[in-house]
Order: sequence, then structure tokens, then C-alpha cells
Amino acid sequence: MTTHDRSNRALAQRDLRHLWHPCTQMHDHERIPMVPIVRGEGAWLIDADGRRYLDGISSWWTNLFGHANPRIAAALADQAQQLEHVIFAGFTHEPAIALAEELVRITPPGLDRVFLADNGSAAIEVALKMSFHYWLNLGHGEKTRFIALTGSYHGETLGALSVSDVALYRKTYAPLLLTPILAPSPDTYEGEPGETPAQIAARRLGELRALLERDAHETCAVIVEPLVQCAGGMRMYHPDYLAGLRALCDEFDVHFIADEIAVGFGRTGTLFACEQAHVSPDFLCLSKGLTAGFMALSAVLTTERVYEAFYAEYSAGKAFLHSHSYTGNPLACRVALETLAIFREEPVLERNRALAAHLAARLAPLRDHPHVADVRQTGLIAAVELVADKATRRPFPAGERRGLEVYLHGLEHSALLRPLGNIVYFMPPYVITTEELDHLVDTAVAGIERALRQ
Ligand SMILES: Cc1ncc(COP(=O)(O)O)c(C=O)c1O
Repeated sequence: MTTHDRSNRALAQRDLRHLWHPCTQMHDHERIPMVPIVRGEGAWLIDADGRRYLDGISSWWTNLFGHANPRIAAALADQAQQLEHVIFAGFTHEPAIALAEELVRITPPGLDRVFLADNGSAAIEVALKMSFHYWLNLGHGEKTRFIALTGSYHGETLGALSVSDVALYRKTYAPLLLTPILAPSPDTYEGEPGETPAQIAARRLGELRALLERDAHETCAVIVEPLVQCAGGMRMYHPDYLAGLRALCDEFDVHFIADEIAVGFGRTGTLFACEQAHVSPDFLCLSKGLTAGFMALSAVLTTERVYEAFYAEYSAGKAFLHSHSYTGNPLACRVALETLAIFREEPVLERNRALAAHLAARLAPLRDHPHVADVRQTGLIAAVELVADKATRRPFPAGERRGLEVYLHGLEHSALLRPLGNIVYFMPPYVITTEELDHLVDTAVAGIERALRQ
């Protein structure tokens, strides 16, 4: 086979000879096709044989305004001809400066300091270290622990994985990790029968209070994914929990870290999920949609109060220590600026609300399906929970890999759907049309039937 052969088959064979893909048992590719994508266009991906796939998951929740979006691509090309990168210690550049100004302007009040990193997990590492170091600089070296929610996911570097509670990712590496204090998630799926989402939030806040009464003296921060625990199964909860969490963090003198890496930038119906509870966290972690799927970039926003705890004569040894070579990359910053310009200039949130309503209407009939325990939605994130037994909510055994059948069905029918276990979810790019949403839902429904026949 020559390298001039650019068919799906040829590219897949070359890939499998050397590459090792994330979140993949590579052996699966003896049976599951590797899909070489050569082009993107709006919500569509196009493979080397010309087959098209509607990207129902925004390519791991990153893409907002379409693949190869011409406006963002032009900004990136323009920046590449001026400055591709410069060391970000001692040197700066206007794309980073303007991005920091814009992020401070659009995020919840009080978040006036911006630290840049280059992916979501790195942002979590920064927030955890900064919170710990803040307390250390204030003379509270005894604060070394973090509270995380059950079912949470914050990334897979060792620090981020330490505060995550998805067994699939955590279990194997557990001996290497910090041990978080786990607070029960306010996830509505796990509520008591008849309990409202607000009542679940109130009950879970009571349990969090008890943990803080016991452990706040050694706790740096509580870290949460606001409103939707995404990788943990698109589990959703009431905004009251965030308001109560803010109050508890103030009362017990611990930080509130909001990981909006997946839910930020309009996903949940507001620009940031925290807005729905009218709260500002002490640290806000952003990535993914920040660059609309074009470049790796993340940002941690924090308060002037945190910043001041590090600001001292060099000899005091209080400076924050965390650096990545590609911190503040000008190409990524410029792409982020263009992404935020689209939010300013176009009615993105309004359009998303209309799309979300359409998606909700299309998914509603699934509530009556004998193997669907729950259909839930927050903004443009929707999930359908498949179960073996509807009455008891007994899940299908994970080993049956029912979700994989939905994925394979999608590939055969022009849709990229990638269920999380038995949870089929939708998280499309914001440029998707209602007709395209219909195609995604129809394909998912047919895929679910195929998975149930398995
Ligand atoms: C809520 C949340 N936090 C952190 C991360 C980690 O981001 P990254 O994959 O860029 O390291 C993810 C990724 O899915 C996420 O969903």
C-alpha cells in the first residue's frame, strides 16, 4: 500500500500501525472501523471515502460554530502570519491581553484575574494548586484536601483525576491519586421517588454541610461541574445547589471551584451555568468551547483576593508556580477572541434556546419507551438513560456495551453519536439546524432499537 492511497481503508491501516488513541481499547479496532476524517463543514464531518457524519457530540464537546468555520479559520490564518508563539513569562501579546479583558467582562462578577493554560485538565491542575497555595500563603498549610461530588469528572491528569469519581477512569490509577472527600451529588436521577430537583438539592446541601463541619479545617476547596455532570453520564441538578454551595463555602472558609469546561459558553442556556444560580465561584475553569473546537486552550479565572495572596516581594517566595510551554499561545488566544466575537455579534443563546426546545419535543416520546428510565435536558445537552428494567431502573450490565451498538448504527447512518455506557446523549454544535437535529434523533432512536435487540 502506498501513501498516495487516501481511502478510508488505507488511512485506517496506516493509523493503526503507529497511533494509540485516547479512551480506546485499541483491540476494538479489529471490529470497529477507524474513521479517517478529511474535512469538516458546519455540523458535518466528511471521511476519506466521502461519507458524511453529523457531529452530534461536537467532537468531544468542543465545537460550537461548525467545523472549519470560515470566520474563525480566517482569524487563525491572519494570526499565524503575525505571531505564532512567544514565551509567556516576561513577554505578552495583544491577543492574550484582549482575551483576558473580554473573559473578565463576560464571566460572573468578581473574577478579575486570568491564568491561561492549554487544556481542560491543565486548568483543573491550576485551580487545585492555586487554591492550596492561597491557603498556604495565608498560613493555612493544614488545608490540603478537596471535596468533589460523586459521579464527577474533571479530567485525567493525576490531579484532575484525583477529584474525579468515574470508576472507569479512576479505578486503575487510584493508587497514584490524592483521596478527595466525596459529597453526594445532587443528581436528580438519584433522587428519592417524588422528590423535586430543588428538594434533592436541599437534601444534598445538608449532607455537604455535615462534611464541611467535620473537614473544612483541612479542606482547600469544593469542586463541581455546574448543573451537568457530563462524563459521569450527563447527570443534571437544580441551580439551588450552586447557590447553597456558594453560601456554605463562604460560611466554612473554603473555595468554590466551578469547572465549566464542558458546560460553559452557552451550553446550558446561559453563557455560563453559574449564572442560573446568580453566583460567582472563586475559580472558574474554562476550555473546550472557549476556542470553538479549533485550538487547545484553557483559562482559570479567579478573584483579586486570591491574586493578592500571591503578590509580594520575590524573596517572600509566594509566587504561583505552574507553567506550560504553550501557555497563552497567540494562535489559540486569537481563535478564542473570534469565538467570543461571534457570541457578541450573533443571537447565539436565543438560537440555542429554539434548538433546545425542538430537541426536547423530539425526545419527549422516548419517556414512554419500556427501556428508557429517564430523558433529561439542560439547554443543548440532552440524555436518554437506557435500562434493562424500567420499574427498578436496573441498568444493563456494562459488559454488554449496548451504547456501542448505537455508536455503530450512527456510523452506518451518517451520525456521530457516542453514548456514555447506556446513556445516549446529544450535545451538538450550535450551528446545527432543526432538520439535522431530527436526523440525529431518528438515528439515535433506530440505534437504540438495534441495541435493545442485541
Ligand atoms: C467537566 C470537565 N472538566 C475537565 C475536562 C478535561 O478537559 P481536557 O479533556 O481538555 O483535559 C473535561 C473533559 O471532558 C470535562 O468535561
